[in-house]
Amino acid sequence: MLHDDYFEYYERLASWKFDEFDISSECLTEWDLYKILRSLVSEDSCVLDLGTGGGEKVIAEYPECRQIIATDYSPQMIATAKRNLAKSGRTDISFRVMDNLKMDVGEELFDVVVARHTVTDPAQIIKCLKPGGHLLIRGVDKYDCWGLKMVFGDGQGYSDPVPQSIRDYENVISAGFADVTLVPICERDYFRDRDAFKGFLSKVPILDGVPDDGLLDEYIARNTICGRIRLQRQYYGITARKNDRCRKS
Ligand SMILES: C[S@@+](CC[C@H](N)C(=O)[O-])C[C@H]1O[C@@H](n2cnc3c(N)ncnc32)[C@H](O)[C@@H]1O
Repeated sequence: MLHDDYFEYYERLASWKFDEFDISSECLTEWDLYKILRSLVSEDSCVLDLGTGGGEKVIAEYPECRQIIATDYSPQMIATAKRNLAKSGRTDISFRVMDNLKMDVGEELFDVVVARHTVTDPAQIIKCLKPGGHLLIRGVDKYDCWGLKMVFGDGQGYSDPVPQSIRDYENVISAGFADVTLVPICERDYFRDRDAFKGFLSKVPILDGVPDDGLLDEYIARNTICGRIRLQRQYYGITARKNDRCRKS
């Protein structure tokens, strides 16, 4: 999908509920974004959450602290997030529209910047972190749902010459971060039946377009385990630290 197509997609997605697909997940890798976040955040911390979506994760999973600013380029997502915040009772979070690729927050403001399943520009992120501040990225990699993408011969990142994880990793290092680690994260999602699986694939941008029935059945025949359809997920986690010696230029 092109940048503008993604924007339209996320504007529509703001009112969708993924609970309807009843997905159960199994994590095969010990890398927990929220556990790492909790270890870095104190009650005095300021946190920036990039590409926050409807705010579900930041509201439910982020530790309470002095201030969390959560941003997204989709006004519809931010409207959903504000509604979710009002129901939550949390007072340390505020939401606003911002493009991650044209960040307009001030310099050296945040102790931690988090970007979960969204695009990033580490060269912009490093400027808004305090010296010694941390960057946490969790992303979806080229080899996510690879068995499915191979059956269809297309999909998100299918033809990327370099996986997104490696591009992010290199960009984080190039931006000047220290202590950069990249961890592949393997998970398995299970769907109760074909309708739930097809409905999910029709809404997410894993494949290019609505899945063809014949190819879908081919995949399901090979990936049904104990009556449930399995989808192999491949994510990545990046942690990095802004050097203490970095100063505002
Ligand atoms: C898959 S959702 C992830 C939402 C949330 N971070 C989570 O983990 O549940 C991706 C979000 O990134 C946002 N996004 C994509 N490109 C963006 C950009 N250039 N600037 C800001 N937000 C962006 C989308 O609008 C969407 O809400």
